[in-house]
Amino acid sequence: MATKVVLIPGDGIGPEVAQAAQRVIDAAGADIEWTVRHAGEAALAAGEKALLPQSTLDLIAEYGVALKGPCTTPVGTGFRSVNVLLRKTLDLYAAVRPIRTMHGVKSRYENVDLVIVRENTEGLYAGIENEITKGVCTSIKVATEAASRRVADYAFRYARERGRKKVSVFHKANIMKLTDGLFIRCAREVHDAQYQDIAYEEVIVDAACMKMVQDPTKFDVILAENLYGDILSDLCAGLVGGLGVTPGANIGEKGAVFEAVHGSAPDIAGKGVANPLALVMSGVMMLNWLSATRGDPKFRESATRIRGAYDRALTEGAVTRDLGGTLGTMEFADALVKRL
Ligand code: NAI
Repeated sequence: MATKVVLIPGDGIGPEVAQAAQRVIDAAGADIEWTVRHAGEAALAAGEKALLPQSTLDLIAEYGVALKGPCTTPVGTGFRSVNVLLRKTLDLYAAVRPIRTMHGVKSRYENVDLVIVRENTEGLYAGIENEITKGVCTSIKVATEAASRRVADYAFRYARERGRKKVSVFHKANIMKLTDGLFIRCAREVHDAQYQDIAYEEVIVDAACMKMVQDPTKFDVILAENLYGDILSDLCAGLVGGLGVTPGANIGEKGAVFEAVHGSAPDIAGKGVANPLALVMSGVMMLNWLSATRGDPKFRESATRIRGAYDRALTEGAVTRDLGGTLGTMEFADALVKRL
């Protein structure tokens, strides 16, 4: 029986890259039955009453898995982030973002291979903001022991299961002594109690950013609270060729939502030029996750085929414009299908 997956096209370039990713995943032989549900401005356009309709949340909860395009969040005013709300509501507590250099993709560094594990439910993204009086606003940063321990445990477990050697916690506990202090204390305690086989370090986030740009190969798994993990993800994308090649997963206890790091890219939306590779790679993460959680090795086989196809396409110069090529979104999907 086909495995049911929710497909959320999202906003901007979302529908274009989602269609391309779906095409590649289907062509790789993954037995998936897709159900489209909307989120973001696309939900309102489809006649829903909310940006994040309950029916979308319910179906993700029922199927336990979704592949998601990006959703627009207006700057400064307007509604809060659909993405933050979705991750929080479904308790997708760990954002996992692998960053690696690839043959055929021009980048400033070689041999980068690291993974960011970002706490996905609290920190400054808890959304507790107030205008206390005119001209004075506050935003409250939330750190709980339960969430900090849970994501630390995930990061160490992830490292161990994949033969990774070191977890670096990025923090600013020198200034935010209580919130970031709690975050690193939990990480340290989880490490000392259960994961002494993995090397562990704490790095102040500003210095860490400098070190990252000087030599990203020094890092392996990076654990960070929500805001640092968000900013760092784009910084790291820039180290390996940009947002077109940076996939991601939001993992919870009861399910997972896979999405690229990039946003809805309004500057290129509707032009058919967006690079779908980051979402295709997120799809590969989804297939591997399905294989592990549902015990079906066929998903892993499909994932390996897709990985081989994009490695070959990139090496042979079949790439989209952001990577210096000429292919459009669906042309690139076709190039992958041809190489499966
Ligand atoms: P963005 O990631 O959408 O775009 C940044 C730059 O990268 C743009 O120049 C864009 O054209 C380029 N780019 C991004 N993805 C690309 C792709 N696949 N192929 C080729 N070029 C690509 O970030 P921006 O402009 O800051 O945000 C736009 C909107 O997306 C905002 O409303 C933001 O809130 C939202 N967003 C949503 C996310 C999500 O749904 N997970 C994540 C990040 C941003």
